[in-house]
Amino acid sequence: MHLAPLLVIQLLTSFGGCSGSSSFLDQAIELMEESPLLDTHIDLPQIIRSLNRRPLDAIPQLNSSFPGHVDIPRMRQGRLGGAFWTVWAPCYDVTGEDPGSDFNTPTNHLRDSMEMLDIIQNMIARHPEHLQYARSSTEVWSAFKAGKIASLIGMEGTHLLGNSLGALRLFAQLGVRYLTLTHTCHSAFASSAGPGGPIDPVHEGNALTQLGKELVRELNRVGILVDLSHTSDATMRQAIALSEAPVVWTHAGARALWDHPRNVPDDILRLIGDGPGKKDGVIQSIFFPPFIGPNPGANVSRVADHIEHIAGIVGKNRVGIASDFDGMYISVDGLEDASKYPNIVAELLSRGWTSEEMRGVMGGNLMRIMDEVDAVSERLRDQLPSSAIWEKRKDLPSIKWGGGGIQTYWPRDVKDAVEKMTVRHDEL
Ligand SMILES: *[C@@H]1O[C@H](CO)[C@@H](O)[C@H](O)[C@H]1NC(C)=O
Ligand SMILES: *[C@@H]1O[C@H](CO)[C@@H](O)[C@H](O)[C@H]1NC(C)=O
Repeated sequence: MHLAPLLVIQLLTSFGGCSGSSSFLDQAIELMEESPLLDTHIDLPQIIRSLNRRPLDAIPQLNSSFPGHVDIPRMRQGRLGGAFWTVWAPCYDVTGEDPGSDFNTPTNHLRDSMEMLDIIQNMIARHPEHLQYARSSTEVWSAFKAGKIASLIGMEGTHLLGNSLGALRLFAQLGVRYLTLTHTCHSAFASSAGPGGPIDPVHEGNALTQLGKELVRELNRVGILVDLSHTSDATMRQAIALSEAPVVWTHAGARALWDHPRNVPDDILRLIGDGPGKKDGVIQSIFFPPFIGPNPGANVSRVADHIEHIAGIVGKNRVGIASDFDGMYISVDGLEDASKYPNIVAELLSRGWTSEEMRGVMGGNLMRIMDEVDAVSERLRDQLPSSAIWEKRKDLPSIKWGGGGIQTYWPRDVKDAVEKMTVRHDEL
């Protein structure tokens, strides 16, 4: 791998500068060479999409210097073991596409999500000496042991699904491993925490819709992790109660430390664990200063404070790490880009976390949850797919698909059956 000499010097000095004794840093790097650090949220695909009118043409450059927080040399320098690359497109407030109060006006989100997946597939295909696709914990370990960065796929927001469980099932086949139940907007499935402050509720109880409840069951069945980052508190509570499988927050902080609706409040953290009435899960702590606080001034110690606060409630075996790199306009001191992961590992080691606990924080805890989610999916394998649709859809059944006045596309008996059905509808 090629590294500019200046970058190497920067890295060496910044490691030492931020995490106390350099022996903790040495210990961190050694650990990261033995066990993978998995970052559950990196928005690199959206940077690729934004840098070139033909996004695939930006991909070869990933193995040299690349704008933003992430490129292959910096990931290697930061000993990153694996990443969830994010399939995402902005909510309506950014794109200006208004789906209407019934969420029925078509948008480009489904196409854009397919294109983001295509970018991820091409990233992996173009850099096989560095990236290797993974979906399960076993596949993460085999990528790691082969010296590759395990590449998993997360999908951020149900506004991307075209209101369709059919689309969700196909994303599962394409390797999507987690689905965040909302981004910053409400969807036909679930209620969001909004873009920073609360937004007006549109669903009963500001929680899941009927279709959203079906979605959670379907995610359990197909083995996609239910991600509660970005969702309203009521959505979190309902999903925790409803999900048969463990839940995750792929990028969030502790609300008790910094009062932001994107962070998880203590009373919800108390629902996570293995006691009676609790659900297993993992909370992956984010690096984004406005969630971590104080901003400006957020640093690597502060991220460790969030991890320790959360661990104090759910246990050290239910926390992990998530940068949100390439999805934020500012970063934490000491965790400025993908070359800096060892600093957070060193920080926790300096606070007395053991190597074994750190293997969990780095990736083991999340992989245990992935295994449990896979076990639930295996147990549910004989269940039929949900036939639920968004009840406000007006295009089903497809009574116009037979063609115009001369009934172009339907056999006679189909036409008769549709007509009978239409009459029945009119009589109601
Ligand atoms: C992070 O900021 C706090 C508060 O300013 C400070 O006490 C601490 O030493 C800083 N940590 C590092 C690693 O710079
Ligand atoms: C980067 O990857 C391209 C292929 O996509 C390859 O041709 C090139 O040699 C690589 N450069 C480095 C510095 O590894």
